[in-house]
This record gives sequence, C-alpha cells and structure tokens, in this order.
Amino acid sequence: MIERDADLSGANTLALPARAERLARPDSGEALAGLLAGRRGDEPLYVLGQGSNLVLDGDLPGLTVIPALDRIDYRVEGDQARVTAGAGVVWDRLGADTGGRGWRGLENLSLIPGTAGAAPFQNIGAYGVELADVLDSVEAVAVADGRPVRFLAAECEFDYRDSLFKSRRRGEFIITAITLRLHRHGPCRVDYGGLAARFGDADPATLEPAAVRAAVIELRQNKLPDPAVLPNAGSFFKNPVVSVAHYQRLKENEPELVAFPHRDGHKLAAGWLIERAGWKGRRLGPVGMHRDQALVLVNHGGARAADVRALAGAVRADVRERFDVDLEQEPIPLP
Ligand code: EPU
Repeated sequence: MIERDADLSGANTLALPARAERLARPDSGEALAGLLAGRRGDEPLYVLGQGSNLVLDGDLPGLTVIPALDRIDYRVEGDQARVTAGAGVVWDRLGADTGGRGWRGLENLSLIPGTAGAAPFQNIGAYGVELADVLDSVEAVAVADGRPVRFLAAECEFDYRDSLFKSRRRGEFIITAITLRLHRHGPCRVDYGGLAARFGDADPATLEPAAVRAAVIELRQNKLPDPAVLPNAGSFFKNPVVSVAHYQRLKENEPELVAFPHRDGHKLAAGWLIERAGWKGRRLGPVGMHRDQALVLVNHGGARAADVRALAGAVRADVRERFDVDLEQEPIPLP
C-alpha cells in the first residue's frame, strides 16, 4: 500500500516536520521488488529506517521506502553463531536477544537507535566496536533492476561512520537483510573509555555479555537523551581527525584537549571542542546542544530544518574560529 502526502514528523527522531510524496513500507522481498518495478526510473527514491540519523531539510519528492522486513534467523555453527535479520528489525532487539543467549559481539553496540538495515549504511559504532567487526554480509536489491545482490563485509568499504552504501555507490541499493557473525564463547571488549573504568580490573574472558550490555545501556542513558523524550539524531558531528602538527599546536594552548591517536594523525573528541567553545547546554531558538553531551543537537520543541541549520552553522563557526577545525555533520541531510 502506498500512502500519499505522508507525514514524516514521526518518522525522524529529530521530529522535524516534513512530508513524503509517496510512502511505502514493504514487508517482503516481493513487495519491495513490486514497488521498484512500478516506479518511474527518474523518480526520486529515499530509504529510511527509524529516521534516527537524518536531518529532514524539507519534503521528500517521489517514493520513500521504509523497509518492514522483520524476519530473524539464528544459527549455531560450532563456537560461532550467525544471525540474519531483515532490514526492518529494530537494531537493539538483536543485542537483547543475542546477549540473553550469552553470545558475544553486540554488547558494545547496545541501545543504538535505528534498524538492522540502516546499520551498515553508516557503520554504526560505539565503545570501541563497529558493525564492521561483527558483520558477515549484507543482502540488498539493486534499485536499477531489482536484482538481488550480496556483499561480504570486506566488500562494504567500511570506514568510520561510512560505507559503500553511504558514499561511493549511494542510492544504488536497498538493503534487505544483514547477517552477523557472533561468538558463543570468548572475551568481551571493555578497553574503551567508560567501560574500562567500570571493568578495568576484571578479566575480559570471564565477563558475560549481558553484564557489558547493562553497563553500556547505563552509560548511554546517563549521557544521551532518549529521542522519544527529547528529539535528537545522536552525535550531530563526526569526531574530526587532524594532523599531528595541528594536534600538537592545539595541545600546547589546551592541555586538557581530548584526543586519540589515529592512522592519519589524531582524532579529537568533537563533544569536548563544542563544550569548550561554550555550546554545551546552550540553545539557539528551539534547538540546542545537549547539556550532558555537547555533541548531540536536540529539538526542544517545534524546531524546523532552518533552526537546525542555524545552530549547526553557529557551532561549526565557533569551533573553526577557536580550534581551526572543521566539523563534519554526521546525520544525513535529505532530500
Ligand atoms: N566530551 C566532553 N564534553 C562533552 C562530550 C564529550 O568533554 O560534552 C569528552 C568526554 O569527556 C570524553 C570524550 O569527549 O572524554 C568522548 O566522549 P564520549 O565517550 O561521550 O564519546 P563521543 O566521542 O562523544 C562517540 C560516538 C557515539 C558513541 C560514543 C561511545 C561519534 C560521532 N560518536 O561519541 O556515537 O556512542 O562515542 O562510543 O563517533 C552516534 O554516532 O550517534 C553516537 C552517539
């Protein structure tokens, strides 16, 4: 069924007002193939998951697809477990189910909003783990001719919050399912930030994934606003990478600068830069940077795309002026 002039304000977690010319929620591969076959080749096409990593900058022309394929298959293969999930499965359901079975792999990615199908698009990551570390393969259909395609993880061109689907071949495929490769035994990864502080003394091999999942959930709930309560799209900027020379120059003036070594120099904590530039908890009109995590732009109510643009621009300008660093927006602007 196709809904015309559909309201998208509840389909994006920043709660921005926007409409879709035509909206469909296919719940099977056949339904999706039918939609693609019935679409004019030059009609714009947008694919959304839970809309948790989007900035809707206006109405979406053409066809918007929200895949609703929700099948999950669990397979045990020796010490490993494989999970295949339809694109419409809520991501955190997989973390809860597999953690409950004692399977390792998704605990650090607990409570990330969004769907399984959106996870490869931006290579979701948290607490030292990225989707790329646990992904086996992605199933998709080619938009051009509806043909099924499978990508092994190594073919997805994953990078920090980036992939082939988001960058080089954007718009060419609709992801229909993902397969994860998890471990039934073995250590959990707790060497990152808040987790190291919590589990620093424990032997990672003796940790249960459910305990790590509980800790990640607590850490996230303490810092990150729940989009259902305070609309937001998670981190609004990427953590920027600067050269070693640039890092050293900054560090001289700002000894408390938070940074991590990176293959191209140093990765800076954007949240720290924004806080230092005076934006933590500060509002501009109906939007603001969150009081507990300055990297998260929040909608205090009634915001429009122009409000988001104005705040993002002001934050970027201040960070550029103070640190000579260009912040790159993380959520995807549409249309
Ligand atoms: N910091 C501040 N002030 C702030 C926020 C952070 O000084 O207002 C400092 C913290 O003290 C810490 C450092 O910045 O030393 C890093 O902060 P945090 O651990 O909160 O992580 P992040 O780098 O800000 C990234 C991801 C998050 C992910 C966390 C945990 C990006 C863009 N964001 O945030 O992902 O949950 O690490 O791994 O990489 C998302 O992508 O939407 C997202 C929430």
